[in-house]
Amino acid sequence: MESMPEIQHPAQAQDQAQVQDQDPAQDPAQDRWTEVDRYFTDHLVPADDALEATLASSDAAGLIPMNVAPNQGKLLHLLARIQGARTVLEIGTLGGYSTIWLARALPSDGRLVSLEADPAAADVARANLARAGLGSVAEVRTGAALDTLPLLAAEGAGPFDLVFIDADKPNNPHYLEWALKLTRPGSVIIGDNVVRDGAVVNPASTDPRVRGTRAMIEMMAGHPKLSATALQTVGSKGYDGFVLARVVA
Ligand code: SAH
Ligand code: DHB
Ligand code: MG
Repeated sequence: MESMPEIQHPAQAQDQAQVQDQDPAQDPAQDRWTEVDRYFTDHLVPADDALEATLASSDAAGLIPMNVAPNQGKLLHLLARIQGARTVLEIGTLGGYSTIWLARALPSDGRLVSLEADPAAADVARANLARAGLGSVAEVRTGAALDTLPLLAAEGAGPFDLVFIDADKPNNPHYLEWALKLTRPGSVIIGDNVVRDGAVVNPASTDPRVRGTRAMIEMMAGHPKLSATALQTVGSKGYDGFVLARVVA
């Protein structure tokens, strides 16, 4: 297992993300991946006023569009449904796009808690959840997740049936630790963006996001409480992937 990276503060992580995300090389097949995503989305993921308004208001507020693609959002929704989830924890809300997909999978007495460091994004997300009629099911908590997770645990929140980890990647191993504390046998843990154009295979990477993701994957690999797999994906968001784990004990 790799040693855990230092805990990073959101501003720091964001600075690095912005520097390292400049001018990403575009794969020659990107147009085809986008077209195929459009085909599947047009057929299987019908347009929806609340979701469209969420993307529009996120854009208007200047949020960087890091939301899951529509077909990925529906995958999260279906996984939560298949799981029979009544409670969901999300780490990394942005404008609430994935939050809406997940919250819509819950029964009316279900509960979703989403953690967001950026107060402006959290405000946008709350408005979007209210517009989607999910204000009583989904709650956005502002603050660095490593500050709000202990508070959540101290309240006795959880166990959550599904956890979606999608915030600052350097802290992924820490988020996995908290996810394990806040789940039960049978819970599902999903981690986004674990491939990043293949960067994940580089053990010598100095990118703290790659190091954080590798540390999370390697924690899962050796973990007696987890059974996990990971998939590479291509689509409108490029070449990336996600990890899916079930808490088994
Ligand atoms: N899940 C969203 C996208 C999240 S983007 C969707 O698919 O629609 C990642 C989010 O994590 C950003 O909004 C960013 O502000 C937030 N973030 C970054 N560092 C964080 C931290 N330390 N704690 C909580 N949220 C953080
Ligand atoms: C980034 C973060 C995400 O959660 C995502 O889905 C895509 C990109 C980023 O930090 O660049
Ligand atoms: Mg993501």
